[in-house]
Amino acid sequence: MKNYMSMAKESAEYLKSKIGKTPLVSIVLGSGLGNLAKSISDKREIYYEQIPNFPKTTVPGHDGMLIYGELCGRSVIAMKGRFHYYEGWNMQEVVFPLRVFKLLGINNLILTNAAGAVNTGFKPGDLMLITDHIGFFAENPLRGPNMDEFGPRFPDMTRVYDRNLIELALMCAKNLNCEIKQGVYGYTKGPSFETPAEIKALRAFGADAVGMSTVPEAIAARHMGMRILGISCMTNMAAGVTDKPLTHEEVIETGKMVEKKFEALIIETIKNWT
Ligand code: HPA
Repeated sequence: MKNYMSMAKESAEYLKSKIGKTPLVSIVLGSGLGNLAKSISDKREIYYEQIPNFPKTTVPGHDGMLIYGELCGRSVIAMKGRFHYYEGWNMQEVVFPLRVFKLLGINNLILTNAAGAVNTGFKPGDLMLITDHIGFFAENPLRGPNMDEFGPRFPDMTRVYDRNLIELALMCAKNLNCEIKQGVYGYTKGPSFETPAEIKALRAFGADAVGMSTVPEAIAARHMGMRILGISCMTNMAAGVTDKPLTHEEVIETGKMVEKKFEALIIETIKNWT
């Protein structure tokens, strides 16, 4: 079995030699948010393939880089391109970058994603602060020998998403006059979209949104004691809410329409980060 801890340490050593001070906040940029990187100043781009042991993205040169720099005077590191389970990565690979971030000394994490709206009171284009998640359907990224240096064997998941960060983001949304929802994110493995029956089941479980990322990363980050803010962009109504079949194009299109609002919220939140 690969020793992911020593691999992550090697990656962190490499990154330490490339970046200056420890970033205050790490950000995982979900589909359609890649342009946020343009707002980062004094930036340094580090392709995943340059970093020892980092999983290598399948599309060369595309959406596979860390961007380190300043956002509103706060030092940040952003992941442009994440590793999804549906692409064939194992869960250790999916959460690997977060472990490297923690080893760099970073304790703050913003997870963003595109999601389907399960809550019929939501509409495409809505942003949702994640208050909790349902991860029954994910293989747990903590399976296997526990990494004691990071956290306990049986970590508490009572409050995965930091209450103070949710309050901060709510205040920032208000500053921007941006309407914002709150709710529970339900994870599915993908890559097929859900069936209407699966969406009904998720709704009965209490999910407000559904997506194919974020939960494994949140579990690993919480295990390591990181403070997490999760934000979903509703790119479509989930399967069966309308008669329309779901397409990836719709996800991308809505993502583009909402991008500016989403970016503004993240920037405002980082500006006011406490
Ligand atoms: N389901 C799962 N993942 C998604 C969806 C969806 O409807 N929309 C965007 N990501």
